[in-house]
Parts: sequence; structure tokens; C-alpha cells
Amino acid sequence: MRIKVKKPASLTAVEKRRLSHLHLRNGMMYPSFQDALKWETPAWVIMAKEDDGTIEGWAFLEDKTGQRQFDFMIYVRKARRREGIGTRLLRKARKIAEEWRKKPLAVTIHDDLSEGFFNNQGPGLKKEYWY
Ligand SMILES: CC(C)(COP(=O)(O)OP(=O)(O)OC[C@H]1O[C@@H](n2cnc3c(N)ncnc32)[C@H](O)[C@@H]1OP(=O)(O)O)[C@@H](O)C(=O)NCCC(=O)NCCS
Repeated sequence: MRIKVKKPASLTAVEKRRLSHLHLRNGMMYPSFQDALKWETPAWVIMAKEDDGTIEGWAFLEDKTGQRQFDFMIYVRKARRREGIGTRLLRKARKIAEEWRKKPLAVTIHDDLSEGFFNNQGPGLKKEYWY
């Protein structure tokens, strides 16, 4: 499995279709991605991809105009959780963010699961609690 980074505009139709199935139902991840595509906001799609093209998880990093932090969202396929994929995706996103602009990554904590994950990722994340 490789970690692959693409700008939203350079994703293939197949990748977009796969991502559209791989995010929290009622969540903002794929809609945010579509907005970034539409408005051409600086944004990155970070994918955990198998050799056959299967996407096991992805993260979306966005630098919205005028915001003091990056927006960050992440999703890992249920069957592949607790294998370190989320950590790898977040690590890559933090590296991109650091190189792009000095400001923190904002992450949304909406349940025990996301709290457990983000609390294990060291300092420097701006945590917003939605539950
Ligand atoms: C949150 C999420 C991305 C984590 O992905 P993951 O690939 O399972 O994470 P990792 O395997 O890298 O986990 C790293 C560490 O985080 C902590 N962690 C991860 N999931 C956890 C859980 N369910 N409960 C408690 N701690 C957890 C653990 O300390 C874990 O290390 P360990 O497995 O060695 O104990 C995944 O659960 C997910 O997609 N959830 C639904 C979407 C979501 O909530 N996104 C976040 C808001 S946008």
C-alpha cells in the first residue's frame, strides 16, 4: 500500500467515484472536496492506495482563504482500521501543511473513535469538539 498525494483537479474519474463511496455518511468530507474542486481552493487529497487501485483510506487537507488553520478530514475503510493507515495519512498531511504555510491543522472530534485517534497524534492539532 502506498500513500499518494494529488490535487483535487488531477484526480481521475475512477478515483473520484471511489472517494465518493469512502467517507462518513452525512459527513462533510466529500462535499468539501467537491467545493474545493469548484472554487479551486488550495487543497490536497492524500490516499492510501493498493497496487490494484483500491483506496483503503483518504484524507483531505484544505487551506481555505482567510482561515487561521487548515481544514483536515480523514476516513479509513472500516475493515482496515487500527493498522496505522490513519496515522500515515495524517503524518503526510502535516508534512504538506508545514511546507505550505505555518498554521495549525484543525480536526473535528465527533465521537469516541475520532477522539481516541487524534489524542494519540501528538501536539499541534487544533481540536474542535462536535459532541
Ligand atoms: C479515526 C480514523 C481515521 C482512525 O484511522 P485508523 O487507521 O484506524 O488509525 P490508526 O490505526 O493509525 O490508529 C492510531 C492510534 O489511534 C488510536 N485509535 C485509533 N482508533 C481508535 C479507537 N477506535 N478508539 C481508541 N483509540 C483509537 C489508537 O491509539 C491507535 O493506535 P493502536 O491501534 O496502536 O492502539 C478511523 O477510525 C475512521 O476513519 N473513523 C471514521 C471517520 C472519522 O471519525 N474521521 C475523523 C474526523 S474527520
